[in-house]
Amino acid sequence: APEVPDILSPEFATDPYSAYRIMREHAPLFWHEPMQSYVVSRYEDVARAFRDPAFTTANYDWQLEPVHGRTILQLSGREHAVRRGLVAPAFRGDELQGRFLPVIERNARLLIDRFRATGRVELVGEFSTHFPINVIVDMLGLDQADHARFQRWYTSIIAFLGNLAQDPEVAADGERTRVELAAYMLPIIAERRANPGDDLLSRLCLAEIDGTRMSDEDIKAFVSLLLAAGGETTDKAISAIMANLLVHPEQLAAVRADRSLIARAFAETLRFSPPVHMIMRQPERDVTLSGGTIPAGSTVTCLIGAANRDAERYRDPERFDIFRDDLDTTTAFSAAANHLAFALGRHFCVGALLAKTEVEVAMNMLLDAMPDVRVADGFVPAEQGGFTRGPERLPLEFTPVG
Ligand code: HEM
Repeated sequence: APEVPDILSPEFATDPYSAYRIMREHAPLFWHEPMQSYVVSRYEDVARAFRDPAFTTANYDWQLEPVHGRTILQLSGREHAVRRGLVAPAFRGDELQGRFLPVIERNARLLIDRFRATGRVELVGEFSTHFPINVIVDMLGLDQADHARFQRWYTSIIAFLGNLAQDPEVAADGERTRVELAAYMLPIIAERRANPGDDLLSRLCLAEIDGTRMSDEDIKAFVSLLLAAGGETTDKAISAIMANLLVHPEQLAAVRADRSLIARAFAETLRFSPPVHMIMRQPERDVTLSGGTIPAGSTVTCLIGAANRDAERYRDPERFDIFRDDLDTTTAFSAAANHLAFALGRHFCVGALLAKTEVEVAMNMLLDAMPDVRVADGFVPAEQGGFTRGPERLPLEFTPVG
C-alpha cells in the first residue's frame, strides 16, 4: 500500500485530497503519532463518530478552555442539551428572517459600498473576513465602533485554535485575548441583564429553562466561541462558493439567472470545499470503526474533507456540481442526505441557518453589484489549509453598475 501522507505537512495543507484518497482506500483508520490521535476518513466512520453519543467532545477541554473558557462545544449529555436549548432559539429561521435579516443585509451592503464603484475587489480581505464578524457583533448589539477590536480578538482566537505547531507566542496571545474579551464583555453583560433589549446578547442573558440560566462567564465564553465558530467558517464558505462558481462559469450563469440555486451552490460548496477539515472526538468506551478498535479515552480526528468526497457516499465525488441529487440543499437537518461540513448529531452547527442566510444575502448582493464578475487577470483561485481550509485571496474584477 502507498505511504499515508502526513496530515500536518505543508504538502497536505496545499492538497489534502490526494492524501484523502490514499487514506480512505488503504488506511481508513490509522494512528498519528505527533497528534497522538487516531484518524478516520470514510464517510460512514466520520458520520458515526458525529452521531454516536459514545464519542464525546471531552478532549476539547484542554484545546478550547485556555482561549474561550467553558463553551457548549466541550459539554456532553444533559448539560450540553440544556445549554443548547438555551442558545438555539435565537438562531431559528423565524428570528433570522425577522429580527436579524436587516442586520445581515446592512452589514453586507456597508462592505460592498466600499468597493462597488471601483471595479475591483479582493474578496477575502475586503469582504469575507469582515462580514461574518461584523454580523455577529451587530446581532449581539455591541458597539459598531469596536469592529477593529473584535477583528483583532477573532484573529487571535483562530490563530490559537490553529496553532498545531504550539508556538508559545501564539498561545500567549490567545490567552491575553481571553482576558481582554472578559474585561470588555462582563460589564456589558451585567448592563444587559439590568436593561435587556431585543439583541442577541440580551436574549442569551434572559434565556431560561426550568430555572437554569447561563452565568456571565458562560455567556462570555459563548460570545468567544461565536467569533471563532461563526467567523472563519462563514468567511471561508463565502470565498469558496464564489471561487467554485467562477471556475465553473456555466454553474455561475445558472445561479445568476435563478437565485434560488444559491442554496444548492452553498450545500455543494460545503461538501466540496468544507471550511473545517478536522474535528476531534473522544470515545468514552472502546469503539470499532472500519474494522479497528479504538480504546476508550483516545482522541479520534475526523477528516470531514475526506468523508465529503467518499465515492461510497457520493457519485463522482471529485466533481463540483450544484445540480447533484445526492445532497440535501435545505440545511433541514436531514442527516441522511447531508454533507458533514456542519457535523451531525448533538453538536450539529447551531449557526447553520445563520450561515446559510448570510451566504444567501452576501451572494445575492455581490452578484447584483458585479454583473460581469471575473477572476482578476492571471490569478488562479486556490484553497489552502489542512485544519481549516479556503481561498486565502480572491482578486476579482467587474464593470461597476451605473
Ligand atoms: C458547531 C461548522 C457557521 C456557531 C459547528 C460544528 C461544525 C460547524 C463542523 C461542529 C463542531 C464539532 O462538533 O466539533 C460550521 C460551518 C459554518 C458555521 C462550516 C459556515 C459555513 C456558524 C455560525 C455560527 C456557528 C455562523 C454562529 C454565529 C456554532 C456553534 C457550534 C457550532 C455555537 C457548537 C454547537 C454545539 O456544540 O452544540 N459548526 N459552522 N457556526 N457552530 Fe458552526
